[in-house]
Amino acid sequence: MAEIRRIGVLTSGGDCAGLNAVIRAVTHRARGAYGWKVLGILDGTMGLMDRPLRYLELDLDMFAGHDILRAGGTFLGTVNKGDPFAFPMPDGTKLDRSLDFVDGFHRMELDALIVVGGDGSMRILKQLCDKGSIGMVGVPKTIDNDVHETEYAVGFSTAVNVVTEALDRLQATAASHHRVMILEVMGRDAGHIAISAGIAGGADIILIPEVPYSMEGIARRIREVQKQGRSHALVVVAEGCRTPDGTVPCVEYAGGEKRYGGIGQYLSDKIAEEIGTETRVTILGHVQRGGIPSMRDRLLASAFGVHAVDLVAQGKFGRMVAWQDRGVVDVSLDAVCIGPRSLNPDGTLVHSARGLGIYVGD
Ligand code: F6P
Repeated sequence: MAEIRRIGVLTSGGDCAGLNAVIRAVTHRARGAYGWKVLGILDGTMGLMDRPLRYLELDLDMFAGHDILRAGGTFLGTVNKGDPFAFPMPDGTKLDRSLDFVDGFHRMELDALIVVGGDGSMRILKQLCDKGSIGMVGVPKTIDNDVHETEYAVGFSTAVNVVTEALDRLQATAASHHRVMILEVMGRDAGHIAISAGIAGGADIILIPEVPYSMEGIARRIREVQKQGRSHALVVVAEGCRTPDGTVPCVEYAGGEKRYGGIGQYLSDKIAEEIGTETRVTILGHVQRGGIPSMRDRLLASAFGVHAVDLVAQGKFGRMVAWQDRGVVDVSLDAVCIGPRSLNPDGTLVHSARGLGIYVGD
């Protein structure tokens, strides 16, 4: 087994709360227990592809006051576009720049790489590391919680807390104005955020991409609520839900990038039209990704960071740290890189929601 002296750590994909806590834990374990040098690569894969290389040497002094543990975002920066295998060039063409990444790793004289990413980043980084015979260990993070083989990814818990608090706030204004409030939440193609926060925040209706819904079902639930003497209702809808004709509403940003968004407004119009009740829409958006990490995210980040470094020390590459059955384990990256993990429509959370009378679809 090659001796480890220098490791790199990078954050990739959409940011979330708890990333800084992972970087802190990695640095503590690698510097403190093993005496390695730790290089924090800036802006995900870009720091290794750019010349000059872009990185920061990480030392324990930087984390002395523990401020980083509490800070949202990632102080290393991140990217969620610019796949090195199909890098977008200014003239609109795509260029394979994967060898720039591999070359950057060797120029930095790294012995291993810890990648903190979601399912998409994990897949791309694994391909890059395989190509360059780079020893990689993954740490799962994403508010979407759609990484396979782990019950929780860093960032999910904070996002669910944010959505739950938003529902607490919406409830009061919904009641005051006798309105149906629709809250559109992130999660891409999975309903993990919507179902957890919807149950915790007392929603009447939770719509998730994994379970088809109907306008009749929505109307039935709202009328039931009204019959019980309540003139307001809360609806949580995951951004990846489809309209009945099968399209997922999207927003196009300058430069042509598309992101999910708009299903909340669609439902609001439909509910107002079909039930005659007043509706309003809130799109929480990137508020879900920011803020101080929750206790659970700090805990996960800390345990994941320490275990990831221990795997490097043992030469156990091609692995991802994961949370299973109350503890940290590690799993094969091959088992993880198979696409996003959907919510189980027959699982505990959907069953619990229905048990509470919440409409989750038909
Ligand atoms: O994957 C995390 C996520 O926040 C999704 O929930 C959301 O659809 C997407 O990223 C938004 O991406 P961007 O930050 O590029 O707008």
